[in-house]
Amino acid sequence: MWFLLPYISLCLSLETYYSASNIIYSPSSISAILTFQGQSQPSTIHTLNLTILAESYTHARVRITDLNSTRWEVPDIILNPSSLILFSEANYSITLFENPFGLSIFRKSNNQLIFHIDPNVTFQYQNQDLIMTSLLDYPFYVYGFGERVSHFPLNPGIYTLFARGQPGPYDNGKPPGKNMYSSQPVYIAIDSLGNSHGGFLLNSNAMDVTIHNYSITYRPIGGIIDYFAFVGPKPEDVAKQYQKLVGLPVLIPYWTLGYHQSRWGYHNLSDLQNVVTNFNKYQIPLDVMWTDIDYMTNFEDFTLDPERYNYKNFSIFIENLHSANRKFVPICDAAIPIYDYPPYNLALEQNLFIGSPHHYGALIGKVWPGLAVFIDWFNPNATGYWHNMMISLRKLVDFDGFWIDMNDPSNFCEGECGYPASQFVKDLPYIPGYLSLNLLTIDLAATHIGGLIEFDVHNLYGFKMALASSKYFTDILKTRPFILSRSSFPGQGRFASKWLGDNFSLYDWMAYSIPGIFNFQIFGIPLIGADICGFSFDTTEDLCCRWYQLGTMYPFTRNHNSNNTIPQEPWAFGLLLLTVSNQAIRNKYSLMNYYYTHMFYLSIEGGTFFKPTFFEYPTDIRLQYDHAEKNFMVGPALLVHPALIRDLTVVEAYFPADIWYNWYTGKRITTPFNRTLTLDAPLNGTINIHIRGGQIVTKNDASTTANTVYDLRYGNITLVIAIDGEGLAKGSMILDDGVSLGTIENGNYTEIYYKYSEDGKVAYLDFFIKNSGYRKAQGEWPFVSTLVLYGCISPIRSVFNNQNQVDYSLAYNSRLQVATAKLLSIQPDSPYKLQINF
Ligand SMILES: *[C@@H]1O[C@H](CO)[C@@H](O)[C@H](O)[C@H]1NC(C)=O
Ligand SMILES: *[C@@H]1O[C@H](CO)[C@@H](O)[C@H](O)[C@H]1NC(C)=O
Ligand SMILES: *[C@@H]1O[C@H](CO)[C@@H](O)[C@H](O)[C@H]1NC(C)=O
Ligand SMILES: *[C@@H]1O[C@H](CO)[C@@H](O)[C@H](O)[C@H]1NC(C)=O
Ligand SMILES: *[C@@H]1O[C@H](CO)[C@@H](O)[C@H](O)[C@H]1NC(C)=O
Ligand SMILES: *[C@@H]1O[C@H](CO)[C@@H](O)[C@H](O)[C@H]1NC(C)=O
Ligand SMILES: *[C@@H]1O[C@H](CO)[C@@H](O)[C@H](O)[C@H]1NC(C)=O
Ligand SMILES: *[C@@H]1O[C@H](CO)[C@@H](O)[C@H](O)[C@H]1NC(C)=O
Ligand SMILES: *[C@@H]1O[C@H](CO)[C@@H](O)[C@H](O)[C@H]1NC(C)=O
Ligand SMILES: *[C@@H]1O[C@H](CO)[C@@H](O)[C@H](O)[C@H]1NC(C)=O
Ligand SMILES: *[C@@H]1O[C@H](CO)[C@@H](O)[C@H](O)[C@H]1NC(C)=O
Ligand SMILES: *[C@@H]1O[C@H](CO)[C@@H](O)[C@H](O)[C@H]1NC(C)=O
Repeated sequence: MWFLLPYISLCLSLETYYSASNIIYSPSSISAILTFQGQSQPSTIHTLNLTILAESYTHARVRITDLNSTRWEVPDIILNPSSLILFSEANYSITLFENPFGLSIFRKSNNQLIFHIDPNVTFQYQNQDLIMTSLLDYPFYVYGFGERVSHFPLNPGIYTLFARGQPGPYDNGKPPGKNMYSSQPVYIAIDSLGNSHGGFLLNSNAMDVTIHNYSITYRPIGGIIDYFAFVGPKPEDVAKQYQKLVGLPVLIPYWTLGYHQSRWGYHNLSDLQNVVTNFNKYQIPLDVMWTDIDYMTNFEDFTLDPERYNYKNFSIFIENLHSANRKFVPICDAAIPIYDYPPYNLALEQNLFIGSPHHYGALIGKVWPGLAVFIDWFNPNATGYWHNMMISLRKLVDFDGFWIDMNDPSNFCEGECGYPASQFVKDLPYIPGYLSLNLLTIDLAATHIGGLIEFDVHNLYGFKMALASSKYFTDILKTRPFILSRSSFPGQGRFASKWLGDNFSLYDWMAYSIPGIFNFQIFGIPLIGADICGFSFDTTEDLCCRWYQLGTMYPFTRNHNSNNTIPQEPWAFGLLLLTVSNQAIRNKYSLMNYYYTHMFYLSIEGGTFFKPTFFEYPTDIRLQYDHAEKNFMVGPALLVHPALIRDLTVVEAYFPADIWYNWYTGKRITTPFNRTLTLDAPLNGTINIHIRGGQIVTKNDASTTANTVYDLRYGNITLVIAIDGEGLAKGSMILDDGVSLGTIENGNYTEIYYKYSEDGKVAYLDFFIKNSGYRKAQGEWPFVSTLVLYGCISPIRSVFNNQNQVDYSLAYNSRLQVATAKLLSIQPDSPYKLQINF
């Protein structure tokens, strides 16, 4: 062997292994038969079909199935490519080992292993216990494998992938079993030189994943091996390569980036009205009002409590929100109560429920309304039924987005109420997480249409429910969907968004939100955030201040709270929180076009937005671990250092080698090489943000007065130009109607690329119109009002557009080296070449 095995425990007592035969090398595929050798168990699958496909230049696909019979395979996630590419042209190469069977995938550009089934390491393919290890010849950090509350990267340990409706606890992989709402068998790895690769095991069964410094071991308890290896070589490349495979993130409505207010415990309509009244009174922007299960009668889906939420008054309330350009989003839980009303009766008539393994009829679980049953999303009639239910709800509650919860799916009984776990579950040869898989959910022997069992499809419940809900928006309302789901599976980002679920009002949990969001950026669900101020337990004013500072940098910015906890709206404590929350929200609103533009790009090419800083600086090893989650970047331009520790009013900020300017003042910072810098972080201030030299960021002038993001559309734009060492900077902006379907496909957007370049005593600012498919409405984004140059060594004397002088007010701060020019009549979307004279 060409390298030493670092882990003896991975080694196989080579009495049982597979050998490869009938190997056929084709230009675009390799196939072989794997035959079991040695001591077999009754559940051993003897003959396997290995197929390696050159599906794309940047990823290889390895499928290992039972040659003699069909096993469960996850449907609908991957669209098989219509044609394959040639191995000879791919960015990877493959080596097969025959006896024992093994397999290597190398990145061609530097001949580095990115996947390796070692012939000397256990490879097991039993009916309900599959073990596959990828052992590399160098150590690497691993990020991904959701969902859990964990460190970034993942510490060596065992991590469980199985959707379970439980908050936390913190998961260090010792022991496993701290898995949460989603199953995301996807990772990105990076080595000490900054080379990155990724892997995705397309398998919906419960599994444990063991991470060591050199290896990753998958142990799913069903399904097949269907593995995708991504070459990178940068982390951002891996994110794009993966998302292109499972589907690019859905284009979100513009308003979803605004501020959202929610809680469980808005007991009645007057509670809701008071909240909105307070936002108006304190002049805090509010885009979206939410209600949790409070609005329902006895927590029953698709009902409206006639007493606490009087239909007529509630309708007027929502109409008023709409006329103030605000939106409304209600919750909907996964289970349907057993109760004589249309949602139950209609589904029963159509036989849409998941069946019990114990008796004839539906499996009976228990959630908020009491005994309840679960929709079988694999029934082709479930979507139509669900749309009818959403139509009936929308007649009661004129919603703009849909919040789907408890879709892990959750069950307060273990398995089925009144029954012990089925024999099937007791007999499983291996239990990922070491805890009963029925815990907090429905029995894994529950039956679905077409002979499917919960065992195989459990992790797809959230995906399927989100898909059906999303189709209501795209197919019936014909508008962009906004679905906020608790549970997720790969590919879900192409139609839905997510929040991190029930967190705690604790500093640690605020900090954990950062790796949580990073992971979902990788998974392709970029519109994500954690509940600001925390959900469970009473919050405190200082925590809330810090969480507003951080949470208004999340793509999805929502304050949400549990029932029976003290209020945590912006005015809940007094002037400090009121001031801090307002300035934090307005700070996000000042960045709204920047946020939207870069979220829009994710829907065109994939990638990440709220990202680890090393995704932009992969070779800086201090960002891979020591400083991986203490800072983050939003888009390519902004580096953020949040204050995450109680009573500390400074942050120890690490900066990668580059030119950085304070976002608010333009002050250039001098970063000590390879050391941290102490930044002030007063509780009453704004979060520390620095803009990277070489970037232009659009700023919405109207953020100081806006009530909603709608007002920003009708406001001016400032271009903040952070000059790099060569006197250059670039940036861009997307403008569209923010709500329509097909915007990207039809080209219904305008994209402007801004380029700043110095040339002696002058500089040019070019506006290149890359796409002009959106004609703005009357008065929308009237002007580029201002140019702000950071790192400008001399004052601006004039700005010309052709022969016309377009500046009317100039300023220069020589201490900060910040020059400002106010401009006349410059449209952001016209092809100018402005000349700036110094
Ligand atoms: C497996 O390990 C044995 C013992 O260390 C070694 O002799 C053998 O060459 C290895 N096989 C392969 C294919 O690497
Ligand atoms: C082996 O699997 C591949 C793809 O998974 C399939 O196309 C092929 O037909 C299978 N071969 C046999 C002999 O079943
Ligand atoms: C599976 O199929 C192969 C080829 O058709 C055959 O040689 C083999 O005996 C079969 N194995 C089992 C366990 O049925
Ligand atoms: C992949 O290979 C192509 C040539 O086949 C090359 O142009 C491209 O840069 C490579 N990409 C990566 C990520 O290595
Ligand atoms: C794994 O890597 C970490 C960090 O480099 C190191 O501290 C640890 O000792 C390594 N563990 C083993 C078992 O090699
Ligand atoms: C609404 O509920 C709140 C408690 O959340 C209660 O104090 C108030 O009296 C209720 N208002 C009405 C009109 O019922
Ligand atoms: C779906 O509904 C149609 C029309 O009612 C019915 O004919 C069909 O049998 C249903 N399909 C299933 C799987 O129940
Ligand atoms: C929610 O809180 C109210 C009081 O604040 C309490 O009466 C009610 O029982 C709680 N609901 C649940 C489901 O815990
Ligand atoms: C930076 O600091 C780290 C940790 O102290 C050290 O391992 C590394 O070698 C340093 N890098 C350089 C370029 O000095
Ligand atoms: C924050 O508080 C400090 C002292 O407590 C005060 O000097 C400063 O002006 C305050 N800043 C803001 C933005 O209110
Ligand atoms: C989008 O573009 C298509 C094709 O250019 C055009 O027919 C359609 O009217 C546009 N839709 C909107 C909402 O602007
Ligand atoms: C918008 O910009 C124009 C031109 O620069 C300026 O005249 C106008 O006052 C600005 N509007 C606001 C509300 O600042």
